[in-house]
Amino acid sequence: MARYSDDVLNEVRNSVDLVEIASAYVRLKRSGSSYMGCCPFHKEKTPSFHIDPDKQLYHCFGCGAGGSVFQFVMAAEGLDFPDAVKLVAERGGVRLPDIDGDGGEELYRRKRDMYAMNKAAARFFRDCLFSPEGEEARRYLQKRRLTSETVAAFGLGYSPKGWDGLLRHLEGRGFSRDMMAEAGLCIRNERGNMYDRFRDRIMFPIFDVRQNIIGFGGRIMQGDGAKYMNSPESIIYDKGKNLFALNIAKKSKRGYYVLVEGYMDVISLHQAGIDCAVAGCGTALTEAQARLISKGGTVYLCYDMDEAGQKALARAEGIFNGLDAKLKVIDIPDGKDADEYIKKYGGGKFEELLQGSSTVNEVKVKRLLSKYDPDDVGQKVELLNEAAAMLGNVNNSVEREAYIRELSARTGISVQSISAEVNKAGRRQGRRELRQQVVKSVARSRDERPGSPKSRREAAEKKLLGVLAGDRDVYVKLKDRLEPGLFTEGLDREVFERIKECYDGGESSAEQFLLNRFERREEELASVIIKSDEPGDPLSAASDYIRVIADEDLRARIALAEKEGDVALLSRLMQEQNKHRKAGT
Ligand code: UTP
Ligand code: MN
Repeated sequence: MARYSDDVLNEVRNSVDLVEIASAYVRLKRSGSSYMGCCPFHKEKTPSFHIDPDKQLYHCFGCGAGGSVFQFVMAAEGLDFPDAVKLVAERGGVRLPDIDGDGGEELYRRKRDMYAMNKAAARFFRDCLFSPEGEEARRYLQKRRLTSETVAAFGLGYSPKGWDGLLRHLEGRGFSRDMMAEAGLCIRNERGNMYDRFRDRIMFPIFDVRQNIIGFGGRIMQGDGAKYMNSPESIIYDKGKNLFALNIAKKSKRGYYVLVEGYMDVISLHQAGIDCAVAGCGTALTEAQARLISKGGTVYLCYDMDEAGQKALARAEGIFNGLDAKLKVIDIPDGKDADEYIKKYGGGKFEELLQGSSTVNEVKVKRLLSKYDPDDVGQKVELLNEAAAMLGNVNNSVEREAYIRELSARTGISVQSISAEVNKAGRRQGRRELRQQVVKSVARSRDERPGSPKSRREAAEKKLLGVLAGDRDVYVKLKDRLEPGLFTEGLDREVFERIKECYDGGESSAEQFLLNRFERREEELASVIIKSDEPGDPLSAASDYIRVIADEDLRARIALAEKEGDVALLSRLMQEQNKHRKAGT
């Protein structure tokens, strides 16, 4: 894959000030030579977010987030690396080159034109809504109880009945038919004729987090046809990476998100003051979407109770499982969706449901109980089996017993019988997990005990890299003692090779170049580079680190020789160690 050159990335990075960019997200206070604030990437009360204005790097000592302005924008705006570069370049007024003819400027220009076209289309739909031909649509929105503020806030519109209203409008503004087809606003039939995709529908623009319109959903008002039509994916619309209304919900003060199924649910919730609601774009939840709304907070799922909704819930549970978010389920009574519920009972009642929401397990137990008839012996057995399989997965014994008691009370099956089944299921499950856990913890205890040889060595390697990256003189003076073998294979070795390449190529500092090369691992690097500001002489610090690494290396080799019973090797290594000790003190 093509990538921007170091020079370009450096130019883009230097075109803006990280302190200024970050100030839009964090209240920063000057403290000595750096800036501190409460980290925008995790919840905290005492500031541990730190910007070094000279190095143009940030690092949070609380959550470990860190990097350059690119990483910051990636995290703050939920963008991938190339998009973050583009956004920063836009801010800094840097023209990006066309890399390999398909990335870079060419793609950037096409995206920019497509955003402009979508914006023109959204205006057109909005104007139609407020024109005479939009009368029915206006009445429909009224019937759905949307206020004019809400209609404006979400940029809703109406696509007129004809076949080419939008087509002609966009053509008049200089947009090409190819681009209309590519963005899915118009469709080209086999004979090459073009017509509008969205006709006689309520239009919902879909925004990305940079406030660009990337697609549309269009709802039919009556008659046959798909209830919703959606824009296809395009160079600007990746359905798995965007969420409807995330651009607004990101600014919510609530500190959590509500994930619902439909555009209308989101809009109703926002209108009722629940401004943290988002929805997918007519496709199943993806991990990328879940990540966008996880980040340490709670995610309230509000899905339909039908079979599709239950499947969606199970899927969401799996996806959120590995992420940094607590999952709660809002169970709406009488099979209503959020929009219908709010329309009937008001936003206050929905807030109550939200406050009283349950964990996924509680909801599962509840649904299980309503699924089977406990008076029917056959169903009772099925219920017991399903409950046992489910509860076998509940690790917390207090929680598990509470469910067992509830099931017993509701079904008349004795607590003992249920417990016996649950234990059987749990043992099956447990044996598998236990085995995995033991394997893992043995590996951990060998390698990662704090203060263990491995972590001492690792810390020394990282610190050495930090000093080297920031100080060419140290590198030059210690060159004879620096060899790739000093560094553990993987990131550390790669970083060292890159530093070497840089200095041997005549660069005066390696920091910026490191950031370009390791763009996806800047977090680890930033923590190396930012923390490397240690008092004292960098040269003597660096040679201390080299000594620690050599010591630990020797120690590891001795341990190996011991294990293998290689006495000759062992005695040679011990002699070497003694020599080291004398030299070291
Ligand atoms: P719903 O059928 O629950 O619609 O679909 P809704 O959002 O509640 O809309 P109203 O209240 O009937 O007006 C939920 C979501 O599934 C997608 C849309 O994203 C919709 O918001 N969907 C549904 C489609 O993409 N196409 C369809 O034909 C139906
Ligand atoms: Mn609905």
